[in-house]
Amino acid sequence: MKLDIQATLAILIVVSGAIALPTASFAGDAAAGAAAWTKEYPQTDGSPARSCVTCHDRDLTKPGRHAVTNKVIEPMAPSVNRQRLTDQAKVEKWLLRNCRWTLGRECTPEEKANFVSYIETQ
Ligand code: HEC
Repeated sequence: MKLDIQATLAILIVVSGAIALPTASFAGDAAAGAAAWTKEYPQTDGSPARSCVTCHDRDLTKPGRHAVTNKVIEPMAPSVNRQRLTDQAKVEKWLLRNCRWTLGRECTPEEKANFVSYIETQ
């Protein structure tokens, strides 16, 4: 069989596109993550509005303080806290928990990718 270069290229494009797509749709937007980090979510139970800053500082290189337990939370910025974003299971666990507590719902994959992209730049 004679190899048709155009057909081969077309197949390569389709295959690489299929692989690239999920990554592309989860590529985070750091600026959107930064805006979402400080966004205040009003609570339906009359408690004060919540944001990521309620427990983590606005400045990610600074420690935060847990709004409920009052415990210190180490800085979120990987530049000062090398442990951050190194454990995917931990990141997923806390994003699930913190989105539920802060937003009152789970974050979408896009929102999570935006948060992670933002934190990565700090
Ligand atoms: C009620 C307090 C609280 C709020 C609000 C909160 N977090 Fe957290 N977050 C924590 C605690 C506690 C941990 C785990 C302790 C630690 O890792 O120091 C954590 C850990 C994380 C981690 C894991 C980082 C890593 O790799 O170690 C991420 C990511 C994260 N939070 C993102 C967020 C985002 C995004 C928001 C806003 C939607 C948010 N958090 C709001 C308390 C909070």
